[in-house]
Amino acid sequence: MTNLYEPIVAFQGELKAIRRDLHAHPELCFEEHRTSDTIARLLESWGIPVVRGLGKTGLVGVLEGKDTNGPAIGLRADMDALPLQELNSFAHASVHPGKMHACGHDGHCAMLLGAARYLAAHRDFSGTVYLIFQPAEEGEGGGRAMIEDGLFTRFPMEAVFGMHNWPGIPVGHFAVTPGPMMASSNDFRITVKGKGSHAALPHLGTDPVMIAVQIAQGLQTILTRNKKPIDTAVLSITQIHAGTTTNIVPDEAVMVGTVRTFTIEVLDLIESRMRDIAQGAALAYGAQVEVDFQRKYPPLVNHPGPTKFVTGVLQSLVGAERVDAQTEPTMGAEDFAFMLQEKPGCYVFIGNGDGAHREAGHGLGPCTLHNGSYDFNDELLPLGASFWVKLVNDWFAQPRSR
Ligand code: NI
Repeated sequence: MTNLYEPIVAFQGELKAIRRDLHAHPELCFEEHRTSDTIARLLESWGIPVVRGLGKTGLVGVLEGKDTNGPAIGLRADMDALPLQELNSFAHASVHPGKMHACGHDGHCAMLLGAARYLAAHRDFSGTVYLIFQPAEEGEGGGRAMIEDGLFTRFPMEAVFGMHNWPGIPVGHFAVTPGPMMASSNDFRITVKGKGSHAALPHLGTDPVMIAVQIAQGLQTILTRNKKPIDTAVLSITQIHAGTTTNIVPDEAVMVGTVRTFTIEVLDLIESRMRDIAQGAALAYGAQVEVDFQRKYPPLVNHPGPTKFVTGVLQSLVGAERVDAQTEPTMGAEDFAFMLQEKPGCYVFIGNGDGAHREAGHGLGPCTLHNGSYDFNDELLPLGASFWVKLVNDWFAQPRSR
């Protein structure tokens, strides 16, 4: 039972061509010039005015319904690709070596374009839809850049919504949950500055390797001894660098890694304890330490009201049995989180299936995000576009006092 919009089904071939063209021409963070040009041209061809240059390559399509004094909402798609070599050799594979749409943002753009085209021809909703095409989701915070360029002040909206394809969830299914759905992402670098010496004469120096090992072990106790057991967090040290050979104690040891949490409170606690443990160990062993802690993306927290609303829309679109309304959160991160810090809203996963949709010539790896053998599933184009359209129509049909 899936209630797709027939006109969207009728032009899904065009959406597929748009998606494959974007896939073949991937562009990295803040370099989405061709992508942005393509999207602007399509929106304008459907009679939708476009405002460009928010977050460098970002753009907003302004889609007005029958009541331009009504409320407004935002629908967001991300545009950027990844610095990854595509392993697929089918006809729409990347023409740019080392760049690939391996996260499906090509599909996210095409689904939102599908909704835009339908809604431009069926403006029977009482409000305004801002079609947000954002750059640089993959680590550079393009969502934040658009907010800093006035996304929510120039385009006032009462709620904002985002969608990401999710491999492993069956096609035709959606997943969502109120509250935290994705984690905060934070990078750290700890530099232990000791004093080098001959390795046979360690008493003449201060060994930064030994101190780094002490700190590394101490950091894990934050998760087990300092935060509440029911609070979720990950702290992974992913690199340790020091030294050059067997008979020299080096001057310095460097550790880098990532911290993921579902709340800012837990993040504050972990960062503070990391600094204490690193500085305490350095003091105890007579070294110096520098802790560089970079907060990248905040946790993505779905707002309860809009999430309940979206769940209802999804259930009437594909049937309740195909909507996981309390899906398990992931420790991955997503910069739509910045938008949900500013506005009520909700972010959903649309199932991309198990990879069986891929055409001959696909890579031998799994069809998972950030994998060189991945491809967005074109079956989702009419489904995702229909979700956006139904969300718009249902949202503005809500009874409200004005
Ligand atoms: Ni992505």
